[in-house]
Amino acid sequence: MTDSHTAEQIVATSFDVERIRQDFPILHQTTHNHPLVYLDNAASSQKPNQVITAIENYYRQYHSNVHRGVHSLSEKATHEYELARKKIKNFVNAQSTDEIIFVRGATEAINLVAQSYGRDQLQPGDEIIISEMEHHSNIVPWQMLCEQTGAILKVIPINDAGELDLSVYKELLNEKTKIVGIIHISNALGTINPVKEIIKLAHDYDAIVLVDGAQAAPHEIIDVQALDADFYTLSGHKLFGPTGIGILYGKQQLLDNMPPYQGGGEMIRRVSFTKTEYNVLPHKFEAGTPHISGAIGLGIAIDYVEKIGMDNINRYEHSLMEYATKQAEQFPDLTIIGTAKNKSSILSFLLGDIHAHDIGTILDQYGIAVRTGHHCAMPVMEHFQVPATARASFAFYNTFDEIDTLFAGLNKVKEVFQ
Ligand code: ALA
Repeated sequence: MTDSHTAEQIVATSFDVERIRQDFPILHQTTHNHPLVYLDNAASSQKPNQVITAIENYYRQYHSNVHRGVHSLSEKATHEYELARKKIKNFVNAQSTDEIIFVRGATEAINLVAQSYGRDQLQPGDEIIISEMEHHSNIVPWQMLCEQTGAILKVIPINDAGELDLSVYKELLNEKTKIVGIIHISNALGTINPVKEIIKLAHDYDAIVLVDGAQAAPHEIIDVQALDADFYTLSGHKLFGPTGIGILYGKQQLLDNMPPYQGGGEMIRRVSFTKTEYNVLPHKFEAGTPHISGAIGLGIAIDYVEKIGMDNINRYEHSLMEYATKQAEQFPDLTIIGTAKNKSSILSFLLGDIHAHDIGTILDQYGIAVRTGHHCAMPVMEHFQVPATARASFAFYNTFDEIDTLFAGLNKVKEVFQ
């Protein structure tokens, strides 16, 4: 840590990061003979022992299929799987577990809504609004839906700070707007969007709103009822849980009226060759054997972050981010991409004319893992007219010392290119 301890760091001293780091075995290793500094949490976060052990216990002690057996193992697996659903319901403050659908991740959740709700509801000429800062997963499914239905895609532009232009949004909204798809926190810029306001404005036109919360759920308190979100998605692997599991939250009334997304076992009540009767929520949308260990692991990840407290996590990460931003602002030739007033713990940047991939490769030689590239948000890169950025993204297990290491690493990058 540098000598100049800031107020943010003093605030953060109550947060026992060293104790927390003990729970994450992967953090205690070297890369190229340097201690690993993992700053790629926006791409995927690491898993605490509690999650790893829960997955192991499932496979070692009670692996079995869910909702299908009367034997003890199946009952235990079903109990744990459904318990995970309850934890997630409480985590996002849904009204009912029927509103929580297990999917592969935020991407699948958005595709489900596009293909089930969207394909059923949209007519040629209807409009879908998304924004210029969306991840590809909240662009492409809507483009596919437009091709299928004749609907039209409209885009809210961003300004050079990486904030949405809400005055254009208000102009875009009209009676033809049926769906608004908006990212809660931009993975490429870190911007925290005013989703509550965006939802309220859409509801004035009876449009439904899907919020892509993949980047928000690991950092913010999520309350789908307070937001009045119609759909909200998250990915387990960014929330310290396993890969291949995620959540679609949907208001019960919407989900009840939607046709199934996939057909198969589990999503039916009765099948005959003349007529098939679909199962009730949430099973109607969970065809086939689900990712049981993933759901259980995600439930334990939620227990873990809730034990620390999402407000504590948020406060600590905010102090990390302020510390990193101050250093970045003083770093010669560094340009921050994404300077929104309301920002999460994501620092996207350029360093002179050094290509982002070179920055990432050299930092890796010093044990520092950052992401480089377009971050699955090519329209954002186009806005800033860059092919790629380097991105350091922080989680609650990162430290102020690691941020110092990042900037020491960036000095090495500069040395190479001078
Ligand atoms: N969407 C992930 C990222 O931002 C993969 O890196």
